Amino acid sequence: MPQLIENRAGGFPDGFLWGAATSAYQIEGSPLADGAGASIWQRFCRTPGLVQDGDTGDVACDHYRRYREDVALMRDLGLTAYRFSIAWGRVLPEGRGAVNAAGLGFYDRLVDELLGAGIEPLVTLYHWDLPAALDEQGGWLNPDVAHWFADYAATVYRKLDGRVKKWITLNEPWVVSDGGYLHGALAPGHRDRFEAPIASHHLLRAHGAAVQAYRAEGRHQIGLVVNLEPKYPATPSAADQAATAQADAYMNRQYLDPALLGHYPAEMCEVFDEAWPAWPASDFQLIRQPLDFIGVNYYTRSVARAEDSARPVRAVRVRQPLATYTETDWEVYPQGLIDTLLWVKERYGNPPVYITENGAAFGDPPAAVNGRLEDPLRVAYLRAHLDAVRAAIAQGADIRGYCVWSLLDNFEWSLGYSKRFGIVHVDYATQQRTLKASAEFYREVIASHGACLR
Ligand code: BGC
Repeated sequence: MPQLIENRAGGFPDGFLWGAATSAYQIEGSPLADGAGASIWQRFCRTPGLVQDGDTGDVACDHYRRYREDVALMRDLGLTAYRFSIAWGRVLPEGRGAVNAAGLGFYDRLVDELLGAGIEPLVTLYHWDLPAALDEQGGWLNPDVAHWFADYAATVYRKLDGRVKKWITLNEPWVVSDGGYLHGALAPGHRDRFEAPIASHHLLRAHGAAVQAYRAEGRHQIGLVVNLEPKYPATPSAADQAATAQADAYMNRQYLDPALLGHYPAEMCEVFDEAWPAWPASDFQLIRQPLDFIGVNYYTRSVARAEDSARPVRAVRVRQPLATYTETDWEVYPQGLIDTLLWVKERYGNPPVYITENGAAFGDPPAAVNGRLEDPLRVAYLRAHLDAVRAAIAQGADIRGYCVWSLLDNFEWSLGYSKRFGIVHVDYATQQRTLKASAEFYREVIASHGACLR
């Protein structure tokens, strides 16, 4: 694929996509409507004590019923792309077998609505909402999941590939495994260091199988989304450097290395010790499929100090006393985005990259004053990170687009509705949407193709 090189005044290539991202369970609401099957999040939210304030995705932003209004909002902002995910259980209520035409119909209408508004859909097939029926059969721990996922993916490709040109297999497999199987903070809530590498491996096999199915069915582009968090040693000591390398392998290379290079990073054996299995070499043929792009989600960095008692990586995060932290306690560090994008360029041969998520939770004012809802910290965050994207492009990274996380305030997983990432405020009592200053800022960025950042 030829690199987009023609830069305009803003420093972003022609054809650069300006997007916003969401995911199904976080915004749709009506999780069981029209014959949908329950997901692991439906169950997780109903287990007392797992989600802050007992919040659930039952209503969320009611996007399932208000998608037309939301697409109109996107058009008003000038978005040229919108990244959303498909709820597997709406399409296949049992996870496999019978297709639920009504569930698929929702995404069919959403795609048409987006195209009618001149917005390119970027579709994620899996953003954490595994059908509960599959979890009962072992979920990501069952080797068959790779084929269940590929069959589901093929069903969706057949329906939408004529109109959807950019596909994403998985969102952040690291979080699925670390949060869902190792630390238990996310569905399905397991805490088992023997399970985590198995879940990771089957996620990677599922990714490979879904890409293979795409090559058989699809005509456009497909990629994988990972969350990357650059790791820096707290001191130059050998111990801190080794701990940093482990942390980097665990979070940043555990998925990209197998998917793009065909093997796990060497450090994975140290990270999981006896819980790290010997994988059959043939699996890597399935996992390593040619990809059309990589999606990078970037929020923060971490500074690592060696700590022998820490697990799974022998490192702890060092707090930076002079830095700004977001409401989710993530350090604001835009230089990390430049470093990350240049690292991807160097390590993986400059693949086309979309920044598929970037954003911040801040404590916004609860209501608009004189019609304005000011969120200056988010504006500053977005400005600095968009500058970072431009700097990486100027240094030769092949960056094709950017999606802010998130279009709307939404259900922030185990933190419920307590954290707001949206550039559009949602009043959960009335479902009223109000643009924040960050949305107005982003609209200007898009209208000037980045020139207003200069
Ligand atoms: C996820 C989103 C989440 C965001 C903020 C990403 O890891 O893909 O679903 O809301 O981070 O935590």
